[in-house]
Amino acid sequence: MSQSRLVPPSGRLGVLLPGMGAVATTTIAGVMLARRGLGLPVGSLTQMGTLPLRRANGAEEVPLKEAVPLAGLHQLAFGGWDLFPDDALASATNAEVLSEKHLGLVAEELRAVKPMPAVFYPEFVRRLHGTHVKSAPSKAHMVEQVREDVRRFLRDEGCDRAVAVWCGSTEVYREASAVHQTIERFEDGLRHDSPEISNSQIYAWALLQEGVPMANGSPALTLDFPAMYELARERGVPIAGKDFKTGQTLMKTIVAPGLKTRMLGLRGWYSTNILGNRDGEVLDDPDSFRSKEVSKLGVLESILHAGEHPALYGNVAHKVRIDYYPPRGDQKEGWDNIDLFGWLNYPMQMKINFLCRDSILAAPIVLDLALLLDLAKRAGMSGMQDWLGFYFKAPMSPAGTLPVHDLFAQHSRLHDALRRIAREEA
Ligand SMILES: NC(=O)c1ccc[n+]([C@@H]2O[C@H](COP(=O)([O-])OP(=O)(O)OC[C@H]3O[C@@H](n4cnc5c(N)ncnc54)[C@H](O)[C@@H]3O)[C@@H](O)[C@H]2O)c1
Repeated sequence: MSQSRLVPPSGRLGVLLPGMGAVATTTIAGVMLARRGLGLPVGSLTQMGTLPLRRANGAEEVPLKEAVPLAGLHQLAFGGWDLFPDDALASATNAEVLSEKHLGLVAEELRAVKPMPAVFYPEFVRRLHGTHVKSAPSKAHMVEQVREDVRRFLRDEGCDRAVAVWCGSTEVYREASAVHQTIERFEDGLRHDSPEISNSQIYAWALLQEGVPMANGSPALTLDFPAMYELARERGVPIAGKDFKTGQTLMKTIVAPGLKTRMLGLRGWYSTNILGNRDGEVLDDPDSFRSKEVSKLGVLESILHAGEHPALYGNVAHKVRIDYYPPRGDQKEGWDNIDLFGWLNYPMQMKINFLCRDSILAAPIVLDLALLLDLAKRAGMSGMQDWLGFYFKAPMSPAGTLPVHDLFAQHSRLHDALRRIAREEA
């Protein structure tokens, strides 16, 4: 990681959220409540966590926001884009994550956050029919429009800088193709409306060109291809992804390292979910689900190291299902059936029934990513930030290396990176 002297977090920080649905509005409302002392930002490491630092008289747990210079919640200004013109209050009300009472306390502030018209080529999200969309003669012109949006937002909100976290719907599964290999090919693709270039990639290209760090909360191909890495390095912008690690996968990356640490064997892990929000509706399209499935399936392999322990993990059946079930709304329910074995191969089972709230688990991740990416940029770091893998289901990792999925190993890496920044600051 390349570092230079840290720039202090002065002035206002714009937090741009492409996709202002359940996760984005739960984040925005939560920050508005927390900064007025009306709610606790539970689950956020930057707000509630500590960093162990070595001091003359031994190790000391220092509140994370004192150990490294982060922007404060009062300095944040929110903006974003969506296919629908609803302001953040209307969108949060539709999402039915936070109570009317909570939303009522910050209603005026939320009403003032209005989405900018979206970049929307509908073939990438087939279940939604947006009305609040841009039109442009080519994808290259779309990039220019988003860049102009960013500059206008910064001017209007009096911000010196911004960060972005993709909170938009999951796009259909695509692999990187020729157009994604270099900056020149990607720009040529933009000019010629390459069908391989998605909505989220258009935002990402524009944001990086404007020097705005970006994280990808969805499992789609948005930031993780060679042309984007090259652009991030060239523009000195940190990027991170992908797919917020919230419900079932969070639990999987907590339980699996435990089984592995005790050298207990695994025969199979069957995971199923019901989900009834708009995200669930989008994932009902098999091609969008494919993006999610790929992101969820990679997890066990890297935790268990089957190659080193074939007798324990050489033959694991791993299945993941998501069913769209409207009555459940944002209150997802996940079931895991884990077939494990112990001493002399005797079989055992474990069942996990997690009744979680998706956006309640995702919101602190969005906040932390925004503040940590801003910190990284001010510390002179650019390109892929794999130390932020803690927050993701499918963490980015340098070519030729396996991503780390074990939550505790990820947590150590996050702390190591923050300690390096803290030392630089000292
Ligand atoms: N909630 C979680 O726990 C969780 C976990 C991991 C990943 N995610 C991902 O986070 C994203 C957001 O989840 P959510 O529950 O808020 O979904 P949501 O459906 O409530 O919100 C997504 C929003 O994105 C908008 N959108 C779609 N395409 C867009 C475009 N091109 N430009 C601008 N806006 C666009 C939609 O109109 C919608 O309002 C999804 O990709 C989801 O898979 C969520």
